[in-house]
Amino acid sequence: MAVVTPKPFRTLWEIKDGIQVIDQRKLPHHFEVVNIFTLEQSVWAIKEMVVRGAPLIACTGAYGLYFGLMEAKKTSDLSGILTAIRNSRPTAVNLFNTLDRMEQELSPLQELGEMQKKALALARLIVEEDVEICRSIGVQGLPLLEDIYRKNPNRPVQILTHCNAGMLGCIEWGTISSPIYQAKEKGIPVHVWVDETRPRNQGANLTAWELTKHGIDHTVIVDNTGGHLMQHGMVDICIVGADRVTRNGDTANKIGTYLKALAAKDNAIPFYIALPSTTIDWNSFNGLKEIEIEERHEDEVKYVWGAREDGTIDKVLITPKTSKALNIGFDVTPNRLITGLITDRGVCAANEESLLNLFPEKH
Ligand code: MRU
Repeated sequence: MAVVTPKPFRTLWEIKDGIQVIDQRKLPHHFEVVNIFTLEQSVWAIKEMVVRGAPLIACTGAYGLYFGLMEAKKTSDLSGILTAIRNSRPTAVNLFNTLDRMEQELSPLQELGEMQKKALALARLIVEEDVEICRSIGVQGLPLLEDIYRKNPNRPVQILTHCNAGMLGCIEWGTISSPIYQAKEKGIPVHVWVDETRPRNQGANLTAWELTKHGIDHTVIVDNTGGHLMQHGMVDICIVGADRVTRNGDTANKIGTYLKALAAKDNAIPFYIALPSTTIDWNSFNGLKEIEIEERHEDEVKYVWGAREDGTIDKVLITPKTSKALNIGFDVTPNRLITGLITDRGVCAANEESLLNLFPEKH
């Protein structure tokens, strides 16, 4: 059956009594959607990475909270619902920021019906805000790409990215992809080096899929290639996403980001983080010490998923069956390796003072 997606194209949309999301485990081979009607299904979708990417996890969690309240018997069930969602994935702070915000607005309410209505309104608002925030990241980041092209108009702007911080990790636009899509609209030629991003291959599967869909020239590379490209002048700028940026600008993002930042530093290549303001953890001051890093099942390292010639999706074992594997989901790039933060309010240096200049209300 053909999937009817909303226009403009989004990653999460409402249906009667629920939401639909794209099953990101199936991309790029199959475009399938999953229906979510309950709290349990929302938590499952986040844990199993049917949805992933910090902003999209938060939006799914927001609807999960609403579904939980629809199943609840009394207002005091709120805290159990929040705990269930908070226990889904630990590193992306957007989920926690969103749930804290919803809790603050919902907990004073006296009636369950009121809470349900408010939770739905907040989930809808959070989705719409994400769209606008990501669009603004593009507006703020575009001049960086324009500047590179102005200085070297003889070739497309060469951007390297890691994992997927495109629209698939958000609702629309994406974070790293927003300046790229806006550059394309302005006629600035761009080419993206896409790290495949083992173990789950979000770059090869998801970033490559959405860049193809948007007609953006790109090349998938294995995770170890970036350093070589940087040494040979083949990268103008690195732009990656974030799962949590602490007050001082330290950034947790998909495992391997740190190594790209080291290579960029060694080759004097600007290394930027594109992040929505919802990804800032204003309560943490030191990324290495304070960010909880998710560890996932070793099978994600030992097995690789892909499509057979006949289109069926299957997994194959790539290690000896008995070998152990370690699957750490994220690493922290210290602020000293980051050239700047591209936020929805502007571009700033990766430190507390500069962030506070953009977000004075967080003083
Ligand atoms: O494990 P994932 O796929 O959820 O990790 C995603 C990332 O690391 C993204 O870079 C990040 O969430 C930003 S999405 C705009």
